[in-house]
Amino acid sequence: MYTPAMANIRDLFLLDPDIVFLNHGSFGACPRPVFETYQGWQRELERQPVAFLGRRAEDLLRVSRTALAAYLNASADDLVYFPNPTTAVNMALRALRLEPGDEVLTTDNEYGALERAWNVRCREAGARLIRRRLDLASPEALVEDFWAAVTPATRAIFISHITSATALILPVAEICRRARAAGIVTIVDGAHAPGQIPLDLAALDADVYVGAGHKWLCGPKGVAFLHAQPTAQAWLRPLIVSWGWGDDVYTPEPGMGETEFIRWHQWQGTRDLAAYLTLPAALAFQTEHDWQHRSAAAHDLLMDALTAISALTGLPPFAAPIERWHAQLGVARLPGHVDVGRLKTLLYDIHRIEAPVHRWDDQPLIRVSCQAYNSEADIAALVAALRVEIGVTA
Ligand SMILES: Cc1ncc(COP(=O)(O)O)c(C=O)c1O
Repeated sequence: MYTPAMANIRDLFLLDPDIVFLNHGSFGACPRPVFETYQGWQRELERQPVAFLGRRAEDLLRVSRTALAAYLNASADDLVYFPNPTTAVNMALRALRLEPGDEVLTTDNEYGALERAWNVRCREAGARLIRRRLDLASPEALVEDFWAAVTPATRAIFISHITSATALILPVAEICRRARAAGIVTIVDGAHAPGQIPLDLAALDADVYVGAGHKWLCGPKGVAFLHAQPTAQAWLRPLIVSWGWGDDVYTPEPGMGETEFIRWHQWQGTRDLAAYLTLPAALAFQTEHDWQHRSAAAHDLLMDALTAISALTGLPPFAAPIERWHAQLGVARLPGHVDVGRLKTLLYDIHRIEAPVHRWDDQPLIRVSCQAYNSEADIAALVAALRVEIGVTA
């Protein structure tokens, strides 16, 4: 008997069948049934805009946040939706109190857009952004070395759970634990984590944790979440002040309506809430299709891909052991002579392979994403294309 778990997953995605798609990491990809749910919400809104946005939205959003909260081991009261991680992190870094001389400790592996945002914020506040180079000897060594950069001036730590350019799973739980004991605020960029590695936000105990819904959870574009501990909620002033703000507006009876934190952030003017409301369908899709096992298989496929690229180039892994540093997103070194822009173009134009190639720390890297819809044939196509284009004969 057919069960959803047996479906050919690639057929359920809207991806162009002519492209070998090995870049789930950049913008994700949404399965057809989830996308239909998303469009269903949009149609429902347009049928009765006033009833939907004026009367039903708060309850619908609560139902959605409750499903996400169960998935993250968190409370729906501590979660708010944002259109993307960039907006959510910008809100948090704008709200963070910073004095001249304060330090924000971060890594040299942060997402470029957000590093820019922190630079601007720190410059305006007279604070210093300290970019610690990551020690990749082991996750334990990384924690010790990173922590050695903490000073009495360290006010906050900003760190990725899984880095973008280098695809590394960072030991954020231990860093958050130490920061909590030291009274240092933690803001974790978990854009790539939900759907790729198990998350328990109660145990992780970051002050602020941001995740993407459109990447590894396979939601539609336009949904991310921010989780904040109750102590952080008090200072997380919204970037957009709207009807949820202030004492001069309707204050719900105790036990009625939403908390101040939710009211501050949830209503930010008229907007399309469909992506926010669709996230439970994305979670359900993954459960129905046995995602735990499919993710584990995709991890194994990635390990095979990184091993095959290393065998081709004769170069060591970017970080070893690869099983420990990468989940479904990984990087492999390419020979130093490779023109990264040209290789990326050739992979796409000639071989119809979508995979990012970039220089990191003056080292050419290829980043490979393995999602449940990827197959051994995709990896074989990538390795064959690299063999042709980078001129190694091993
Ligand atoms: C680590 C990391 N943080 C933040 C972002 C920003 O995501 P968005 O562009 O959806 O805001 C990305 C995007 O790829 C990312 O890789």
